[in-house]
Amino acid sequence: MYKRILTSALAAFLISATCVSKDNVTLAGNVILPRPAGIEILDGAYIFTGEPTVKVVRKKGPSESYTLVINRKGVIITAADDAGEFYARQSLAQLLNAAEKENGPASLQCQIIKDYPRFPYRGLHIDVSRHFYSIDFLKKQVDAMAMFKMNRLHLHLTDAAGWRMEIESWPRLTEYAAWRPEASWKAWWNGDRAYVEEGAPGAYGGYYTKEELRSLVEYAAEKHITVIPEIEMPGHSEEVLAAYPEVGCGGNPETHADLCIGKEVTFKMLQDILDEVIEVFPSEYIHIGGDEAGKQAWKTCPDCQRRMKEEGLADVDELQSYMIRRIEQYVNSKGRKIIGWDEILEGGVSRTATVMSWRGTEGGIAAMNMGNDVIMCPGSYCYLDKAQDAPFIEPESIGGYLPLEKVFEYEPIESSMPEDGLDRLLGVQANLWTEYVPTESHAEHMLWPRAAAIAEIGWSPLEDKAGYQDFRQRALNAMNVLKDNGYEVFDLAHEYGELRASLSPVRNKAAGGKIQYLIRWHKAYPGSGEMTLIDGQHGGWANNDGRWMGFLNDIDIIIDLGEPTDIHYIGATFLQSSGPGIFLPERAEISISDDGENFHPIGECFNDVPTSDSNLLFKDFKVICNENGRYVRYKAFRNPAAKAWLFVDEIIVN
Ligand code: ACM
Ligand code: ZN
Repeated sequence: MYKRILTSALAAFLISATCVSKDNVTLAGNVILPRPAGIEILDGAYIFTGEPTVKVVRKKGPSESYTLVINRKGVIITAADDAGEFYARQSLAQLLNAAEKENGPASLQCQIIKDYPRFPYRGLHIDVSRHFYSIDFLKKQVDAMAMFKMNRLHLHLTDAAGWRMEIESWPRLTEYAAWRPEASWKAWWNGDRAYVEEGAPGAYGGYYTKEELRSLVEYAAEKHITVIPEIEMPGHSEEVLAAYPEVGCGGNPETHADLCIGKEVTFKMLQDILDEVIEVFPSEYIHIGGDEAGKQAWKTCPDCQRRMKEEGLADVDELQSYMIRRIEQYVNSKGRKIIGWDEILEGGVSRTATVMSWRGTEGGIAAMNMGNDVIMCPGSYCYLDKAQDAPFIEPESIGGYLPLEKVFEYEPIESSMPEDGLDRLLGVQANLWTEYVPTESHAEHMLWPRAAAIAEIGWSPLEDKAGYQDFRQRALNAMNVLKDNGYEVFDLAHEYGELRASLSPVRNKAAGGKIQYLIRWHKAYPGSGEMTLIDGQHGGWANNDGRWMGFLNDIDIIIDLGEPTDIHYIGATFLQSSGPGIFLPERAEISISDDGENFHPIGECFNDVPTSDSNLLFKDFKVICNENGRYVRYKAFRNPAAKAWLFVDEIIVN
């Protein structure tokens, strides 16, 4: 019925007679985000004024799939289910948004779009604990998620910085643990981490009533989005211990973040809370956190020690695992399943728990190998709390650099995954943690367009991936639509991009030489191995980009240039980023030698930047000289006051 090539003179006549040139016909591939699984472009256009004619047909097929046919008479949606129809309408809306920019009657290119998701789980996580956002804000993000065919909103409802869900059986969680005297998370966290009573002058925070949460759940469900609540346990629970010290191990709750696993009252409380959570959220999955428990207090708490003995638990990892399994059984008994961060693997986990892999992908792959379902959200690609542009342009962030292009490069399927277990990889998720995201407009800036890249990774097939420029163009269109609808998105059109110095090779006589580390780098930050510091490449904005090398010691390096060499410059660039504890060296000492044994000093340089400077900054510690030598020794001494990291990207000799 629809021919690819329409050769009839009539077709040509129709198009010219209605004055539609090829230029104002919208090609599907140019605008739809996420990129559809298949588009067949047909000749001709559907030209209409007002609302387009849309016919809907229901036909069995994979869940969420749809076909969108645009012919000269109108639009036909064939969908497997409500979600499929909904997604067809999202695609159509994107086409119409682009088409309606033209004057006069709108036109849509005739085409057939056959579309279905690559993964069933396409998630967005928002931390509403560190900073509290309104229900209306969350609904607005649901609208944007729906536009990009995302289908899970994971809410981090509880953490030290504030408990955010009304719980009737344990009311102090919202009367007290939801409020702090300090709006800035950073000032609060670095200060006394106090809580205040609801209604106290200056109290910052808030919580969602059950009614508000129900309205969010319903609103999201209309857009085929499930809201997954997260109740953190056993770590990240300072606020719970402040409100109810009896569920802790004792001692000062400010220094203990973990619930006591020895005491039965802890389980009573968690079960009461989960009862209320399950009543409000129909989600199949309840997220129980599980990340970053310190586990220290458990080692001396008599209740925890008794529990370990009684249950035959070998260590505190197994103690945490005991809690997660027991809570999982409870959640299962209510007909629901748990998701936990990848730490739930430590000490053993049941096969029925779903693992959210955030510390890289190794945890997720291990879980897949064991038979668990997995959702991938590795920090290096999916953590939207990192700056998305040059740090001097962006508001203060938690550190790191994650531009849209890097997010888009993420490929969730890895060769080390079990081929027969790929159906256990449920999908992907973008995570917005909000320690440094105090306002709703700032949150939107962090989310969009990067979350849309995760949406595309979750939806679009790997085949025909057209590359970043194709995606970026569609993201620019989509961001204009969001902007027109009142979203304060990141200004992608004016992105500054990566640190300029890192984009082209740097001249370095040391490149190709030999390098000897008298003090070894830290294993967590090896850069790209021992040649990192003489590979002729500067690092970029992010200290973990593989070009920076990190030391938790002083630096002492000898470079062998291979032959006696005229030397006019020796220098190294260091990075300061006070958030993660990276500071410039206090001093650098530079010497040279003919024999590699007897070095004579040629210069010293001193730091003049205070550690209190919280900007990301770069500084060369260098000497200008007129020397000849074969060996260069570069020593840098870290700041004695702080247990500082030293980060250096290249030692340049010229
Ligand atoms: C996490 O980022 N701690 C899950
Ligand atoms: Zn205990």
